[in-house]
Amino acid sequence: MKEQMQGYLTLVNDHLSLVCDRLLPARLPGPEGGPRECQVNQAARYSLLDGGKRIRGILVLAACELLGGDCRNALDFAAGVEMLHCYSLIHDDLPCMDNDDFRRGKPSCHKAFGEATALLAGDALQGAAFEAVVGAADKEGKALPAQYVVEAAKALGLAGGARGMVLGQELDLAYEGKNISREILESIHTHKTGALINGAVQMGAAAAGGSREDREILSRFAFTLGLVFQIVDDVLDVTSTEQELGKPIGSDLEQGKTTYITLLGEQGAMELARKLTQESCQELAQVYGAKADFLIWLAQSLLERRS
Ligand code: IPE
Ligand code: IPE
Ligand code: MG
Ligand code: MG
Ligand code: MG
Repeated sequence: MKEQMQGYLTLVNDHLSLVCDRLLPARLPGPEGGPRECQVNQAARYSLLDGGKRIRGILVLAACELLGGDCRNALDFAAGVEMLHCYSLIHDDLPCMDNDDFRRGKPSCHKAFGEATALLAGDALQGAAFEAVVGAADKEGKALPAQYVVEAAKALGLAGGARGMVLGQELDLAYEGKNISREILESIHTHKTGALINGAVQMGAAAAGGSREDREILSRFAFTLGLVFQIVDDVLDVTSTEQELGKPIGSDLEQGKTTYITLLGEQGAMELARKLTQESCQELAQVYGAKADFLIWLAQSLLERRS
């Protein structure tokens, strides 16, 4: 399984570099003629290209293969979701949001390039994400069927937008410094993190031409995986080190966020994460048998992650 994971990771990283060179070149023709260093694209490349676990991109490829597709036909979708995710991290770190100075083991985008450039780099990454998706090609470089592309673009728009990740981020900020119930926290986490994780598997399903039933089963799995992913993120904010995590620890407490640690304690939060993972993996195994082995292994290994 580890080799499969490594294989997916290499595919995603190599493809991101290619897409980035095409869509976010470091130099562009300047207004006075001749090439000009483009700060915004350089900032986007700085944040995107070096680091990150690529879980969402890997999920695109794994969901595609689960449903019998060739994962090399889903690479542009994987690049798209990673670009959108990276934009969300750049904006999440800004002083007006979580105010974090460190990301992926180096200064956050706004620390390295300034706030205005970081804001624009996030915007550019969001645009490039959709450009990658709508221009998606298969492993031979032929355009993917239009229906697959439309479905993937819709999935990404829904996941990353006003009813998905952005809503989660709005709620996350709105409830800063307030005591909130478990239901509210679950809604925040499901939107801010679950939605894009679901977007990833739905894009993988689109690249494989998956059925409506497949998408519904994958959606239940992905939203649970996303909730668990954020529960573990909350735990790591307390139990990890800045060096391991590549981002500041203690940030949630500093920003007055209610987290699963605040509500359930470290042990309670991890118990819940394990229970949710077990339940959702059971359904996947029942429906897909051994074909689901990789996704189940991935879900379980994310419980033990240290970064
Ligand atoms: C961080 O996501 C933000 C959350 C939704 C918890 P990741 O932990 O996937 O960050 P990278 O992409 O590996 O840096
Ligand atoms: C971020 O959640 C979710 C996003 C949509 C970016 P966090 O604020 O907990 O993510 P980290 O801990 O900064 O990576
Ligand atoms: Mg945040
Ligand atoms: Mg944050
Ligand atoms: Mg966090």
